[in-house]
Amino acid sequence: MSGSRSLLYECALITGASGGLGEEFARQLAPHCRRLVLVARREEALKQLETRLRIDHPDLQLASVPLDLSRDSERGELIDQVIGTEWAPDLLINNAGMGDYGEFATGNWEKVHGMLDLNIVAVTHLTHGFLPEMLKVGRGAILNVSSLASLLPIPDFGVYAASKSYVTDFSEALRLEVRERGISVLALCPGPIHTGFGKIAGRDGVPAVTPIRELFHVPMEEVVHEALVALQWDWPRVYPGWRVALLAAGISLLPMAAIRYIMSHRPRSISAE
Ligand SMILES: NC(=O)c1ccc[n+]([C@@H]2O[C@H](COP(=O)([O-])OP(=O)(O)OC[C@H]3O[C@@H](n4cnc5c(N)ncnc54)[C@H](OP(=O)(O)O)[C@@H]3O)[C@@H](O)[C@H]2O)c1
Repeated sequence: MSGSRSLLYECALITGASGGLGEEFARQLAPHCRRLVLVARREEALKQLETRLRIDHPDLQLASVPLDLSRDSERGELIDQVIGTEWAPDLLINNAGMGDYGEFATGNWEKVHGMLDLNIVAVTHLTHGFLPEMLKVGRGAILNVSSLASLLPIPDFGVYAASKSYVTDFSEALRLEVRERGISVLALCPGPIHTGFGKIAGRDGVPAVTPIRELFHVPMEEVVHEALVALQWDWPRVYPGWRVALLAAGISLLPMAAIRYIMSHRPRSISAE
């Protein structure tokens, strides 16, 4: 399947919609959807977004679902509530994710475990829950938010980068399974974006900031816009921003020995100050 598709969805379900990229996805998708399901933990932030979207899009039907996606039972409840109803998504955006920036050995296990549950298990579980209904009607799309980091072994960011390698590889493989049956799968691989991500990824209240991150920063409006264009054209993968796209192409051409050398000389974690 190739070529342009009309960007019109019956229902889009966006995880991590209470801020950052997820909130921007909700804003940009609102004119292209009949229904939007907003998922994250912070109920108040979801309700505020809902209120703003209702003002701009009075015909849009909205539902906020406050839950912790790192918990198996809460994900299961969401799938059970939605499946078989008009709120079952024909567009699933697995966006919620988090990082942990710092040496692996000194990391907090609860945080690392939560990151694996959110970045890997939740993406896989929601896809497994919602894909069968898409296959039944022969139409749907899954957009998994991965990262440029998925291409690299990153010291101080190893678990996060590896979790995103999973997301990219899973998306590519799933795409090959379902593309002939009317389902698009896209891996969105952004470089650095200014959102709440850096603060949460940092340790001891120090945000995760490196000179490299700032060099490749792309505004989140541009990231989401490029992602939706890629979805419309049924692309397998997108690296928003020309600098990031160029960097990704360069990394893909390098032999592993060169990547190891470069990453071992990369500037390590520094504070925002
Ligand atoms: N920012 C970057 O530089 C960057 C670069 C490449 C890729 N990404 C990826 O982009 C995606 C979005 O991140 P962002 O930059 O927008 O970060 P963000 O501003 O921190 O937003 C993360 C979102 O995920 C939600 N979330 C976190 N933990 C959750 C949980 N346990 N259950 C439910 N929702 C949860 C948060 O809402 P609550 O706190 O309300 O739950 C929030 O809405 C992530 O997958 C991230 O890995 C980010």
